[in-house]
Amino acid sequence: MLSRKASEECHGEDSSYFVGWQEYNKNPYHLIRNPTGIIQMGLAENQLSFDVLESWVERNPDILGMKEDGISVFRELALFQDYHGLPALKKELVEFMSKIRGSRIKFDPKKLVLTAGATLANEIMMFCLAHPGEAFILPTPYYPGFDRDLKWRTGVEIVPLHCSSSNGFRITSSALKQAYKKAQKLNLKVKGVLVTNPSNPLGTTMTRAELNHLIDFAIEKNIHIISDEIYSGTVFDAPEFVSIMEVVNERTSSINDIRNRTHIIYSLSKDLGVPGFRVGMIYSENETVVAAATKMSSFGLVSSQTQHLVANVLKDKKFSFDYIEESRRRVKRRMEMLVCGLRNAGIRCLKSNAGLFCWVDMRHLLSSATFEAEKELWMMILCHVGLNISPGSSCHCSEPGWFRVCFANMSEATLKVAMRRMKAFIDSTVAVVNNNGCTCEQSVRVNC
Ligand SMILES: Cc1ncc(COP(=O)(O)O)c(C=O)c1O
Repeated sequence: MLSRKASEECHGEDSSYFVGWQEYNKNPYHLIRNPTGIIQMGLAENQLSFDVLESWVERNPDILGMKEDGISVFRELALFQDYHGLPALKKELVEFMSKIRGSRIKFDPKKLVLTAGATLANEIMMFCLAHPGEAFILPTPYYPGFDRDLKWRTGVEIVPLHCSSSNGFRITSSALKQAYKKAQKLNLKVKGVLVTNPSNPLGTTMTRAELNHLIDFAIEKNIHIISDEIYSGTVFDAPEFVSIMEVVNERTSSINDIRNRTHIIYSLSKDLGVPGFRVGMIYSENETVVAAATKMSSFGLVSSQTQHLVANVLKDKKFSFDYIEESRRRVKRRMEMLVCGLRNAGIRCLKSNAGLFCWVDMRHLLSSATFEAEKELWMMILCHVGLNISPGSSCHCSEPGWFRVCFANMSEATLKVAMRRMKAFIDSTVAVVNNNGCTCEQSVRVNC
């Protein structure tokens, strides 16, 4: 009944990342209404500073009422359909992006393309830069949504670049070369490397050394770099965030060439905590890419009403910059709560300084060092402990036993419940292992 594209498997919805969400939707936790339900820890949403945003909206009723200086702009907004976007929004967005990067980079609004979220921005970049069957290299572990966003409708392939826990999952030049060789063996033409900086799911920022390896590699192979910097305003600890653009700008040799092949993806879904507004963007110095991406953006524009609201939020510089600072403080505190709670249960996390999740090491809880054992542990945590976390395999991690655990989409009280459940699970698992010598997948049903 459906077209081949519509029924293709590579949407990725069968991955445990999405299966976990489906289980959560069937039985969502609620403190009063459903206290034994599943707690959603697989969603990288930032709700921690929502009250701050709400209070701005309350103080500025005219903006939601589509008025400017008391005069209605309803007609202009309702009729506006220029796919270049509202100039006022683009001006504010580039200033916001610059501020997040410590004002070390100046962005030009003419080189910005507005899209309905970073999801579409990433897909548009694939359509612009690669034919179906050509490939992008992605360091693993990577955001599970990329299997859908980059591959499904475009027909582009992903070649994983496997990073290892032995160096904190850092990108090395030898790993880049290996991934390239693997693509050649598979007869795939590599068009570029796509990184997330800060990384989803690691919660770490890329070092200058990594960024330089990436640039050297892209220069050598004459390919593109796409840097998804959707978490760039959610860096809450040192080292500070360094954008690929900054390092490219500092380089003197082959500068124009690589600058034309470096593109940034951004969105307000994480840093401003408004994923429902679908405000995403591509920034590129490459005029041809900007022109093509602008045309493609007409399939997923940001509504002019949303553009108007967001432009006004960002125009209030004191508010938007204070918001980012406050959000960083709250995210950091939350991350610390999660790390402490897990440590209490004998579980360690990769040291992070950004993002809305931790990369959690549960290798010691596996019955064997295999992805089957990782899946068993994940199922146990989902169905019996009642926590939806994302297994490393859904992020294409090459080592079994790592999990992404989100912490900013719930209340502090809910996080405490989650940590209590985890501790009870570990304690009873250890007790069973000690008493019977049996392993965790055979063991307990935790009473939450
Ligand atoms: C790295 C990364 N890119 C893109 C997206 C999609 O963002 P948006 O809601 O702006 O489409 C996400 C969302 O989790 C993400 O983590």
